[in-house]
Amino acid sequence: MKLFTSVNDVTDVAALVAEALTLKQTPFAHKHLGENKTLCLVFLNPSLRTRISTQKAGQNLGMNVIVLNIDKEGWALELNDGVVMNGTTVEHIREAAAVMGEYSDIIGVRSFPGLKNRDEDYSELIFNKFVEFCKVPIVSLESATRHPLQSLADLVTIEELKTKARPKVVLTWAPHIKPLPQAVPNSFAEWMCKGDVDFVIAQPAGYELSEEFTQGATITHDQDEALKDADFIYVKNWSAYEPYGKVLPGNEDWMLTFDKLKDAPNAKVMHCLPVRRDLELSSEILDSDRSVVIHEAGNRVWAAQAVLKQMLEAL
Ligand code: CP
Repeated sequence: MKLFTSVNDVTDVAALVAEALTLKQTPFAHKHLGENKTLCLVFLNPSLRTRISTQKAGQNLGMNVIVLNIDKEGWALELNDGVVMNGTTVEHIREAAAVMGEYSDIIGVRSFPGLKNRDEDYSELIFNKFVEFCKVPIVSLESATRHPLQSLADLVTIEELKTKARPKVVLTWAPHIKPLPQAVPNSFAEWMCKGDVDFVIAQPAGYELSEEFTQGATITHDQDEALKDADFIYVKNWSAYEPYGKVLPGNEDWMLTFDKLKDAPNAKVMHCLPVRRDLELSSEILDSDRSVVIHEAGNRVWAAQAVLKQMLEAL
């Protein structure tokens, strides 16, 4: 594997999930693979889980890992071509990405969307410039439209905890005060549609995701109906795709609370984190044994390690 930006970069999804679960049992079995290899993790936006889990995954494989919070510690990057750089930007992404490629065997990049210009965000302007200029294998640490390491960890978690061959998985929209990207739900939908699950998306009217990601999903505006007999409930806010990046008024009653689990007595509740308690998801659920959010976050290590292992094997 030379590029990991979406489920479409994976030749065998079930095998990658199985690999992650094997690595969970034997984390240091492939330490030789990363010997004398450098992983550079470049963050243009904040992170807790992605940063630490991917760093740990690289270290488990014997890699040297460098983390650069380029938004805070690097030179201000110019992303556009044809610009006279007489303003606040100091270094063009052409040189910056190329130089990082000189120092690295694999690069990870996190680049959130601006949520102002849909065409720009959905063209993955920033991420694709890293791909173009750094010239080494590249892994998405969450881009404008997808979060594939999160989605792989989610699928690993479902595979690990499921109690039936084809579980019912429900992605349910949650309220939030800020406009958030569509990357996590887009990606989750895309991966679930490739997994062996019965997949339902529940959202208020106006929060339809791009159809590019939801082929094969059942989509409804009826949260109660969607949650019935669910095995896994994935709670996540996202801003509207149309009008792009907007928070629509109302819908506060979409927060997942314990009483909404009455017809899903065996459902496990997931969230990618960070979560806003008692806004997206009730504390009562988060603090109960119905929540698997910490277990899910733990699996981020094995998802990242499975991807990095395949990349190291292809060097
Ligand atoms: N879920 C997730 O990606 O968490 P961070 O933003 O903290 O990395």
